[in-house]
Amino acid sequence: MCGIVGYVGERDALPIILQSLKRIEYRGYDSAGVACITDNGIEVYKDKGKVDDVIEKINYSKSISSNSGIGHCRWATHGAPSKTNAHPHLDGEGEIAVVHNGIIENFQSLKEELLSLGCTFVSETDTEVIPHLINHCLKNSGNVEWQLKEAVKETLSRLTGSYAIIVAAKGFDGLVAARKESPLIIGVGDRENFIASDVPAVLEQTNRVIYLDEGDLAVVKNDSVYIENGGAKVTRAERLISWTIEDAEKGGYEHFMLKEIHEEPKAITDTLRGYLTEDEITLGIDLGIEGDTKGKSILMLACGTSYYAALCGKHIIENLAKVPVQLELASEFNYSDFVLDGANVVVMAITQSGETADTLMALKKAKRYGCKTVAITNVVGSSATRIADETIYTGAGPEIGVAATKSFVAQLVIFYLLGLQKSLAKLPEAAFLEHLEELRRMPQIARLVLDEANGNIQKHARYLSKYDHAFFVGRGVNLPIALEGALKLKEISYIHAEGYAAGELKHGPFALLTEDTPVVAILTRQTLGKFDQNASQNIYEKMLGNVKEIKARGAPVIAIAEEGDEEVEKYVDAVIRVPGTGTIFSPIPNTVALHLLAYWTAKERGCEIDKPRNLAKSVTVE
Ligand code: F6R
Repeated sequence: MCGIVGYVGERDALPIILQSLKRIEYRGYDSAGVACITDNGIEVYKDKGKVDDVIEKINYSKSISSNSGIGHCRWATHGAPSKTNAHPHLDGEGEIAVVHNGIIENFQSLKEELLSLGCTFVSETDTEVIPHLINHCLKNSGNVEWQLKEAVKETLSRLTGSYAIIVAAKGFDGLVAARKESPLIIGVGDRENFIASDVPAVLEQTNRVIYLDEGDLAVVKNDSVYIENGGAKVTRAERLISWTIEDAEKGGYEHFMLKEIHEEPKAITDTLRGYLTEDEITLGIDLGIEGDTKGKSILMLACGTSYYAALCGKHIIENLAKVPVQLELASEFNYSDFVLDGANVVVMAITQSGETADTLMALKKAKRYGCKTVAITNVVGSSATRIADETIYTGAGPEIGVAATKSFVAQLVIFYLLGLQKSLAKLPEAAFLEHLEELRRMPQIARLVLDEANGNIQKHARYLSKYDHAFFVGRGVNLPIALEGALKLKEISYIHAEGYAAGELKHGPFALLTEDTPVVAILTRQTLGKFDQNASQNIYEKMLGNVKEIKARGAPVIAIAEEGDEEVEKYVDAVIRVPGTGTIFSPIPNTVALHLLAYWTAKERGCEIDKPRNLAKSVTVE
């Protein structure tokens, strides 16, 4: 997975391309490069490292006069990060430059064919076959634009796999772009146009955006955008993006992740805003299981953090709506003989980016089973929205930090709304209204954690940062939050952290517990008290029992507990206090606390928080 950008207009292309790349560096940051079309041909600058490293190496004293070019930031798939493997890649004559996001699955056989035709390859990448193939497909008739477009089309017809590409060629004053299973947008300007993998790349320049559709090929010049699909001209609507560039900037915080954790209250408010009126929830979609839900069920498919949100969603929907929910990792579902009754199962794909390859593939498979499909995503116009029958948008706004934070919380909000939606929920009116009131309190609850627990969490993060291993435990609706807390910690602080069901530790992991394995235990209990008191009380008691077992094995315990819970102090070494809520809503404050704990621990260890090693923001490869 990588980020690609292109510019064609009347201004200096190079600074615009570099600036755009910096905006989408979260997509890949092991190497970067640009290719500019000049009067003398194509000039390429690329290297291993981040965009800033590459900028430093570009010799600005040598002026580069160019009004069009392409750029790339890479997350290596084929070939290690290096100068030669960095994009753009050129054909043998250095007259065609290509940037690519995706994977060309048949590149090996194409490479052999091109080698036999006399081509020389300099990189280990799959991408390099593309410029060579384009060169071989060029015909000596028609104008340059037509020739290039047709050669790109012929080349694409030979490729299997996924791609978003931008092609620049010597002697052509435009760019050719195409997409298959990888995202691509066009930013529309005034006598200039932009191409990019993602909206933040162009936001500084324009808020007018065209989302290219699956199979689209576009010829973009400074004063025109021509799009065709399957050989026929098509029109794609222009959308106005309401995000501002400030939304996508750090706003005074040291890291995007910290900014985005602080935006969790707003993400909750903005997600509720679209769907919650005075006492009504309108998600505006047809789930196909409303009314009599007997025999009907939901299957959730997701990866990573979104999978943990879905696991929490299962608890929430089953608790509130009593509709059975199954859950599968998208990457496993794709290669399993899953037994699925298409007529009675609604499939929900949960994906912040809407571009995760495993999740998109799972969505397509679910459609083949005849299931109604719903995408729950944060990105308008993303691939998931185009595949699914219906879409529910989370309102988290742009998330730049690689670790998902506010988008996770926004996904939880959608599950509360789904669970409480009257057409599904079997709750008595009083319970419904009480839950609704509690849900409305969530932005304020999240803010209280940020305002009041933050200092204390920093202190505990200093302590946690000294260890190499940690466990996170919870039960019920808070087990997924323990899993999320562990994922976030390992992902950004590189501490080995395992999330576990508290009752499972005794079935093996107890063997690992020592005074050097701190355990973070989620010990919040319910305070609302009317609808599931027995169950929640029981869970709290069981958790206390588990904590005593952990302490007996010498492991230090940090509890996440509600304000006013004095009992818990007797059994643990440290307490992070969060405001009390109804049980089913406790994942919200607990998540905010654990996101902060991961952040401050990583900061204490001096890690590169927004760009953790080996990861990228949207995983568009299987
Ligand atoms: C972890 C994280 C990843 C993503 C996963 C799925 O912080 O962000 O685990 O959750 O790659 O991504 P989406 O939700 O975009 O499908």
